[in-house]
Amino acid sequence: MSARPAPWRLIGAVWLLSSLVIVVWLLWPASPTPITPMNTPAVASADPAAQIERGRLLALQGNCAACHTPAGGPDYAGGVPLRTPFGTVFGGNLTPSASGLGGWSADDFWRALHWGESRDGRLLTPAFPLNNFTHISRADSDALWAFFQQLPAVEPPSKAHELRWPYGTQAAQKVWRALFFRPADALATAPEAPDERGIYLVNGLGHCSACHAPRNALAGSFDPLSLAGGDLPDGWHAPSLLDPAEAGVQTWPHNGVVALLQHGRWQQHLSTGPMAEVVHGSLRHWPEGDIAAVARHLRQLPIQTVPRNPPLSAPLDLRELGDRIYRQQCAQCHGEQGQGFALANGEWAYPPLAGSRSVTQHSPANALHSVLHGGFSLPAPGVEQPFGMPPFVLELKDVELAAVLTHLRTQWGNRAGAVTPLQVQQLRTSGH
Ligand code: HEC
Ligand code: HEC
Ligand code: HEC
Repeated sequence: MSARPAPWRLIGAVWLLSSLVIVVWLLWPASPTPITPMNTPAVASADPAAQIERGRLLALQGNCAACHTPAGGPDYAGGVPLRTPFGTVFGGNLTPSASGLGGWSADDFWRALHWGESRDGRLLTPAFPLNNFTHISRADSDALWAFFQQLPAVEPPSKAHELRWPYGTQAAQKVWRALFFRPADALATAPEAPDERGIYLVNGLGHCSACHAPRNALAGSFDPLSLAGGDLPDGWHAPSLLDPAEAGVQTWPHNGVVALLQHGRWQQHLSTGPMAEVVHGSLRHWPEGDIAAVARHLRQLPIQTVPRNPPLSAPLDLRELGDRIYRQQCAQCHGEQGQGFALANGEWAYPPLAGSRSVTQHSPANALHSVLHGGFSLPAPGVEQPFGMPPFVLELKDVELAAVLTHLRTQWGNRAGAVTPLQVQQLRTSGH
C-alpha cells in the first residue's frame, strides 16, 4: 500500500502531463496557418503594371535586396549569407523558380510576411525580420508579390542554413516565437495620414528595430519594436533613436532629419557602416512623402537617455600614445583639433571628430569599426566624389586602437570615457 499523500500524486500527474504536452507541442510538425479573408478583399489591381511598379518600390523600401540579392548575382536570387550569433543563414530565392517562389500564391506570400512561415508552414528563422514584416498591409504584400512574380526565374545552387544545434530546429523556432514574436493585427491597406504612416514604415517595411532594438542572448527582445539601441552580429552598434546624445533626432529641424535619411548626411553627421548601407540600398529610393513621415515620427519619439557609467580616465602613457598616433595617422584628414575638413560648399569631406556623436556615444564600437575598416562617405548633392578613409586593421594593435579612441573621446571638449585595450579586444571578437 502506498503511503504517499494524494496531493503529491496529483502534482506528479500534472507535471507528467504538462511535460508530455510540451514535448508533443515541440515535435508537432509545422503546418501553414490558415489565411482568413481580410475585412476588405485582397486588392485586385485594376492596373497590373502600376501594381508591379509599386511592388518594385516597396521592395526597395523594405531593402529586400540586402538579404536576398547575392553580390554581383541576379536580382533577388537568394543565397546571401547572414551571420547570426547562432551560425549562418541564407536569404531565400524570391524569384518564381522551383527553389524560389514558383507555385506560391498571393496568400502564401502574405503568410510568409505576416506570420513568418514558408509555404509548407516551416517557421522562418528570425534573421528574417518577422516582428517587423508582420506589420506590412495585405495590399502592400500583394504589390510586392506582383513584383516578385514577374521577375525572371533563376535557379541558383541552393544553400542550407548552417545553424548550430538546436537553433535551426523547428522546436527552437517555436520556443523563440512563443517568447519574442508579436504578430500584428492584419491590415488591409497601409495608413496614409503622415503620423500613422511614419509609424507603419518604421515598424514594418523599414524594419528599423531589426537593428535598433536591444537584444538578449537569444537575439530576441520582449519589446521588438523598441528603438532603444542594439548590438549587431557584425560588431557594430545601432545606437538608440530615443537619446539625442546617441542617434536620436528629436532636437533636429525636420529638413535635417530628411537630409540624413535621404543622403546619409546632415551638417557634420555622416551615416557610416551598416546605416550607410541602409541609406544606399533603401532610404535614398523612398518617395519624399514617406521620408517626411518617418522624419516626423523620429522627431516625436519620447526621449529616454542611455545610462552611462562615469567616464573612465586613462593612464598617461595611453594618452600620450593616442596623441602621437592621432597626429601621425589621422590629423591630416580630420584636423589637428578634430575639426574636420569642409568643401567650399560647406559639405564635409572629412568629418569633424570634435563633438561627433559617433565618437562620444556610450559604445565605442562604431568609432572602433570606422577605424578598423575605413570606408567611403556616401555621395550627396554637392559631394561628387566619395571621400575615403583607409582601414587601420593591419596597422594598429589593440593597445594603439584603445589609445587613439581614448584620444578622440577625451579631447577637444569630447567628454566620453577612455577605452581600454581589453574593451577593444572584446569588441573586435564580438564581431568577426
Ligand atoms: C535582414 C535580412 C532580410 C531582409 C531585409 C529581408 N529578408 Fe526575406 N528572408 C531573410 C532570411 C534569412 C530568410 C530565410 C529564413 C529561413 O529560411 O528560415 C528569408 C526568407 C524570406 C521568404 C521565405 C522564402 C521561403 O522560401 O520560404 C520570403 C517570402 C521573404 N524572405 C521575403 C522578403 C521580402 C519581400 C523582403 C523585403 C520586403 C525581405 N524578405 C527582406 C532575410 C531577410
Ligand atoms: C542594418 C541595421 C540597421 C537598420 C535596418 C537601420 N539602422 Fe539606423 N543605424 C544603424 C547603425 C549601425 C547606426 C550607427 C552608424 C551611424 O551612426 O551611421 C545607425 C544610425 C542611425 C541614425 C543616426 C545617424 C547619425 O549620423 O547620427 C539614425 C537617425 C538611424 N540610424 C535611423 C534609422 C531608421 C529610421 C531606420 C529604419 C528606416 C534605420 N536606422 C534602420 C543600423 C541600422
Ligand atoms: C584619408 C583621410 C582619412 C584618414 C587618414 C583618417 N580618416 Fe577617419 N574618416 C575619413 C572619412 C572620409 C570618413 C567618413 C567615412 C565614412 O563615412 O565611412 C572618416 C570617418 C571616421 C570616423 C567616423 C566618424 C563618423 O562621424 O561616423 C572616425 C571615428 C574616424 N574617421 C577616425 C579616424 C581615426 C582615429 C584616424 C586615424 C587612425 C582616421 N580616422 C584617419 C577620412 C580619414
